[in-house]
Amino acid sequence: MAKNPADSLIVMTELVLPNDTNTFGNLMGGRLMYWMDIAAALSAQKHATLPVVTASVDNISFENPIKLGNAVHIEAKVTRAFHTSMEVHLMVHGEDLVNRYRYKSNEAYYTFVGLDPHGKPAAVPSIEPVTDLEKSLFDGALRRRQLRLILGGKMKPNDAIELKAIFGI
Ligand SMILES: CC(C)(COP(=O)(O)OP(=O)(O)OC[C@H]1O[C@@H](n2cnc3c(N)ncnc32)[C@H](O)[C@@H]1OP(=O)(O)O)[C@@H](O)C(=O)NCCC(=O)NCCS
Repeated sequence: MAKNPADSLIVMTELVLPNDTNTFGNLMGGRLMYWMDIAAALSAQKHATLPVVTASVDNISFENPIKLGNAVHIEAKVTRAFHTSMEVHLMVHGEDLVNRYRYKSNEAYYTFVGLDPHGKPAAVPSIEPVTDLEKSLFDGALRRRQLRLILGGKMKPNDAIELKAIFGI
């Protein structure tokens, strides 16, 4: 049965403490990616109602550093489900709660696979996007999946029809 992306929404907030920062007083990328992995896994698990594992993480660009003492807000939602795998979109903001200033840090896509009781990939529900943004993320998910499967050695470039089409090939 199809589910809406909103059904899988996870919002996680963390506080950047001294042990989370580098020598410049900014949140370390690795700590942020750990929190993102947790938020994304919860979202995928909420959608699939199955245990899940991280299959891949797309490239992440850190646009703005998050400062010591700021809050980190991570929003995670499933954009599209295929057969046993799901793409999760993450949007990350920092917030200076004292000066009331909120800024985008980065966004990313993680892929999770649902597992059966024997640890084998198991089918997950499909996604029915509702809003324009959800529809756009749903459409793009097919091309992003093809790119990551090519990079992961799981698909031949020639078979990536939708991805090739955007390059006019
Ligand atoms: C991810 C994993 C379950 C895939 O298992 P597999 O035996 O390769 O299974 P399959 O080839 O049948 O792939 C299952 C699904 O994973 C997807 N998948 C496999 N590798 C992928 C990759 N690199 N990127 C994105 N999706 C991938 C496949 O497309 C397939 O999706 P679909 O059913 O929706 O079409 C398996 O490789 C695994 O357990 N990896 C380790 C996961 C882990 O430990 N993660 C924690 C971080 S180290």
